[in-house]
Amino acid sequence: MQAFRIQGGKSLRGEVAIGGAKNAGLPAMAAALLTQDPVVLSNVPDLDDIRLMGKILQNLGCEFAFSGGTATIAAKYIDGNPEYEFVRQMRASICLLGPMLARMRRVTMPLPGGCVIGQRPIDLHLHGLRKLGCEIFLQNGLIHASAASLRGTSIFLGGRYGSTVTGTANILCAATLAKGTTIIQSASCEPEIVDLCRLLVAMGAKIDGIGGPTLTIDGVDGLRGASHRLIADRIEFGTFVIAALVTHGSLSLPDIPWFHQGAFEDILVRSGAIFERSEDRIIVRGDRSYLRPMELATLPFPGFPTDLQAPMCALLTQINGISVLTERVYPQRFMHVGELCRMGADIILENATSIVKGPSALSGAPVMASDLRSGACLCLAALAAKGESIVQRIYHIDRGYEHLDEKLHRVGAVIERESM
Ligand code: EPU
Repeated sequence: MQAFRIQGGKSLRGEVAIGGAKNAGLPAMAAALLTQDPVVLSNVPDLDDIRLMGKILQNLGCEFAFSGGTATIAAKYIDGNPEYEFVRQMRASICLLGPMLARMRRVTMPLPGGCVIGQRPIDLHLHGLRKLGCEIFLQNGLIHASAASLRGTSIFLGGRYGSTVTGTANILCAATLAKGTTIIQSASCEPEIVDLCRLLVAMGAKIDGIGGPTLTIDGVDGLRGASHRLIADRIEFGTFVIAALVTHGSLSLPDIPWFHQGAFEDILVRSGAIFERSEDRIIVRGDRSYLRPMELATLPFPGFPTDLQAPMCALLTQINGISVLTERVYPQRFMHVGELCRMGADIILENATSIVKGPSALSGAPVMASDLRSGACLCLAALAAKGESIVQRIYHIDRGYEHLDEKLHRVGAVIERESM
């Protein structure tokens, strides 16, 4: 197993490249199943999850080629169903359900389980597909879904925690080839869903209301191939913004569109962070000693993203005062807290809220990533800490951060990948 050995205490300085968004890439790859023609995706990040989705597509009989950030998927024939061995490794394989149903009218695939960040049900996905006319039953850990035809209808996709991102992707994909008009209310407004809509429109889908909570889809008879460039990864961007701030550094990043950032930049600016824009770049200057404590809650877009909750927690340990961070999307997503406390953080976990008292003098320690974003959080804490940390189980990080160690090293971090 591999680990990162990190010597903390270095300020990060320089330019960082931000890759394409993992969470835009995975549903886009699944959407390629909606047509027999090749779909060419560019700006695709080199991540384990992307390669795994490629393997799943190949296993279904598709052609998949991936090099230099370009993925080409040709689903001329689809043969078989997604296998448990793959689905258990990646929850996002649920994105195949809608496209496969629309294309094949029948699919059997394993139910994704819960994971370390929470329960993660798919009731809203199934509700939406049933409303489109699918028959679905669950047995022996499998979803059996079939539909003689898909019929447009109105679907409310909101749940206890707001909308569902991959649920919206599934219903959207299925509705593109349904008969008649589908109206999705409480659709996810995440930029990654907007990006999926752009791809589907390029493939010939008719979608109105893109970017808002009500999507209207007029079903068409068939979709064609298309080329599409994925949006930049706003979570990777946010992680490097935090890296600049937590290390008293200064990083120049490609400026992602402000409307992709939602609450993230606003909250940091209110706390005193400095963002300077010039042409297509943004420079983040960090002196954590003047940042003010924050009170924030994660929410569906444009609220503060749950995927930056753990990374943000690492920064809050360095800010003078008491910060309050409430998780409203995955109320159990706090696996990083115990590890941060082992490094010297002062955090009280009260239900879905962490109360962070700072600044804490973090000291390096061996710590363990339990999921992708907690792994990023621990790397950030290790960069801010005095001494050496070893972040273990970095396979979680490699799933969703493109060459994180190399990118950090280039801007001055002392970080090495080791096999243990
Ligand atoms: N939910 C339900 N029922 C459903 C679906 C979701 O109750 O049928 C609940 C979930 O349990 C959660 C909330 O609704 O409390 C939001 O879940 P959502 O379905 O939106 O999450 P997802 O689509 O499974 C995507 C990202 C996650 C990201 C969330 C929230 C992908 C591939 N994954 O997951 O990304 O945290 O949206 O923004 O797009 C990550 O990248 O680290 C990651 C976990």
